[in-house]
Amino acid sequence: METEFVLRTSHKNLEHITATWQAPSNIALVKYWGKHGVQLPANPSISFTLNNCKTITKVTAKKAAALDFEILLDGVAKSSFAPKIKSYFNRIKEYSPWINNYHFTIETTNTFPHSSGIASSASSMAALSSCLMDMEGQLTGQKMAMKKASFLARLGSGSACRSLEGKLVVWGNHDDTPGSSDLYGIDVSGDLHPVFQDYQDTILLVDKGEKTVSSTVGHELMNEHAFAKARFHQAHSNLTKIKNCLKEGDVEGFIKITESEALTLHAMMMTSHPYFILMKPNTLSIIDEIWKYRKETSVPVCFTLDAGANVHMLYPADHKESVDDLIKSKLARYCQNEQYICDQLGSGATTV
Ligand code: DP6
Repeated sequence: METEFVLRTSHKNLEHITATWQAPSNIALVKYWGKHGVQLPANPSISFTLNNCKTITKVTAKKAAALDFEILLDGVAKSSFAPKIKSYFNRIKEYSPWINNYHFTIETTNTFPHSSGIASSASSMAALSSCLMDMEGQLTGQKMAMKKASFLARLGSGSACRSLEGKLVVWGNHDDTPGSSDLYGIDVSGDLHPVFQDYQDTILLVDKGEKTVSSTVGHELMNEHAFAKARFHQAHSNLTKIKNCLKEGDVEGFIKITESEALTLHAMMMTSHPYFILMKPNTLSIIDEIWKYRKETSVPVCFTLDAGANVHMLYPADHKESVDDLIKSKLARYCQNEQYICDQLGSGATTV
């Protein structure tokens, strides 16, 4: 229940509070696509937490007559972020009412290139929520509550609730996942077979531009979607199946579900009204090359896609050298300025 997250304990009245946290991005294997109510997912999802692609955020709060904030990206005021942060604060204030009495200065920076086409909403909302929960802990004298940080992050951006912990997180009610909830992500890394522990994610930057259709609009289009019911049902069953693959070390099964989920996500976009395509010709060329390479070499590398044209290549660390060769010899040419980012699984948000 949402009410469990309302702060009820008495707390100190500090003039200044500050906290600095970093939080990583995550890549979904079973995709979240469709939502209802206040940021509740239409289906459960599961993701790998990343390590290198992250947001580092410092929040300084000063006692004030009313809630107010300013936001800086790389030291420069960023008014375009204000509406999203404003609606986030509006959603979270009933759970952490102390924020009504502070002016917040939010200083944020990303480790990945600024306009790389990599969504920073997951890492940034997770980092900001961690800072606020750290501050709440300073006020109440209680330990920082990760579960509430995930709950708050979800209110900023759904997938952000999967960026607090790692290496493997489930978000959304799922019968086969004890403790799972629509309200926050839970760490299920205990069920990760050694073969997946050191998994790599190399992100091929096919298109670094702004997305033509935002995730928010895409989610909305699932409301009247002809295939929605079947899709949501499929996500439940894919989650059961992929969790089993991740536990048993079944890489082949993992590849089948992961790639099918990526293509299903894009199939939903192509069959919504209005319909749209976020893949680019180079996205398809890369997928084709990955399939060819896997067939020829049996190296278990597969792909997944977010709501964009970039391709995430997932593979075990002991194949790093061969996949690197493949990228340099065949795939980099499909990337904008031949750019790609090497990442791997990580363990979530940490204080700085
Ligand atoms: C395709 O979390 O960005 O990456 O809740 O509206 O902020 P909002 O959407 P967002 O959607 C992410 C969608 C996805 C799939 C996923 O990460 O599960």
